[in-house]
Amino acid sequence: MATTLGQELQSSGKIDSLLDNLVEQALVYSQRITGVKPPDPALEGEAKKAVDEIGAVRSRPLYYNYVGSGVGRGPYVELNDGSVKLDLINGIGIHLFGHSHPRVIRAALRGALSDIVQQGNLQPNGEYLEYSRKLGQLAGKNSRLKYTWLATCGTMANENALKIARQKNRGARMVVTFKNAFAGRSTMMTEITDNMAFKVGMPDYNEVLRLPFYDAKAPDKTLIALKEHVAKHGKNIAVFAFEPMLGEGGYRAANNAFYVPLLEFCKAQGIAVWADEIQTFTRTGNFFAFETLCIGQYVDICTVAKTGQNGATLFTEEFKPDPGLLGGTFSGSSAALRAGLEIFRMLEEDGYMGPSGKVMQIHNDFVGMLNDLNETSCKGLLREAGGMGLMVAVTPLDGSKDKQGQLLKSLFKSGLICFGCGSDPFRIRFLLPAILTSADIAVAKKILEKSILECA
Ligand SMILES: Cc1ncc(COP(=O)(O)O)c(C=O)c1O
Repeated sequence: MATTLGQELQSSGKIDSLLDNLVEQALVYSQRITGVKPPDPALEGEAKKAVDEIGAVRSRPLYYNYVGSGVGRGPYVELNDGSVKLDLINGIGIHLFGHSHPRVIRAALRGALSDIVQQGNLQPNGEYLEYSRKLGQLAGKNSRLKYTWLATCGTMANENALKIARQKNRGARMVVTFKNAFAGRSTMMTEITDNMAFKVGMPDYNEVLRLPFYDAKAPDKTLIALKEHVAKHGKNIAVFAFEPMLGEGGYRAANNAFYVPLLEFCKAQGIAVWADEIQTFTRTGNFFAFETLCIGQYVDICTVAKTGQNGATLFTEEFKPDPGLLGGTFSGSSAALRAGLEIFRMLEEDGYMGPSGKVMQIHNDFVGMLNDLNETSCKGLLREAGGMGLMVAVTPLDGSKDKQGQLLKSLFKSGLICFGCGSDPFRIRFLLPAILTSADIAVAKKILEKSILECA
């Protein structure tokens, strides 16, 4: 049978055993990590210099004194100051299998052996096809999504989604979305984002209409607001863009009964339905939150990124863009595409998905731990623990911005990394890795308890 040199390279037994060797050597360092550890005084000075220099070169300081050393082990990561932290934010949700995962490293190394570093939309290699095909297969199981266009980050995937929706609706401009939405950092995604601190000095383009998010006490008010917008703006509304669970906005979840009337109404009005799953993708016990919420049939466009190691816009037959609308130089690095494919394989084959899969077990154990603290030693100081799957948030202390900031810094110092979300109340959120064990959750519990009582 005829083969290309590329196929020979990828199936070479010699390369396979060299890759095994390389991963084994890297793990020698990884395995020396045994748990949370304070900084090493002999390394602290240089490490602080690197942190300060990052602040200087980019003009804005880092939020945490964090520069990673390049070695980690599962949910634990070593920093340049020699400390080891329990990382429960994972690059804001990128490292689903934590740090130094042998299968992820191996897949990335294999990708790195490719003739090029970055794949492009003009000259793709095989990984471009494999990755796009896989996403299409996964998305198509419970929706009409069929096509995949790759992008190098979530924001760019979202920009493509918006263009597709607008083109389909003949240049209609307006976007309907939730209050407290987050959509990324480009000009238009910042406009869709409902956080004034992220757009100080930016002009208002007046292209975004807001809906209140789910409120159990007044479940109809979102649909009423949508109908009012449609009565006023009619065919000038191109798309309803929504995060299936509010992310930056405070980790607020809603249910099928909330979404269905909204989506039915959008369909009846010809408003495109775009699910921004950049944060929810792979985290809710299914690949897509639209599956968990049973709303896949309504989705016209869906965007993903983060845990897939690459961005992508998925869309249905009716939303195929005209030639020229989508393009761009980069479509993703060979290493990232290979690593993403390996992550999908593990998720599919190793018991992570479904109502009793590992993802939901971690969710239940972690939320249970937070509730336990809230009912015992930290009584009333960790309220409203919840979220979906591997996205969990809780309202700490008095829910103020000051206390949230103080707590995040205290947790970091004690060895636990998480991050904030929401406003009024200000919450702390965890993007949990899918490899978290009950022993790791016990470590998190101890640190949380200490910091909460310190900050109370
Ligand atoms: C819901 C949502 N949309 C879009 C983005 C932007 O993705 P990226 O930061 O990869 O551009 C994010 C990132 O946090 C997100 O959570």
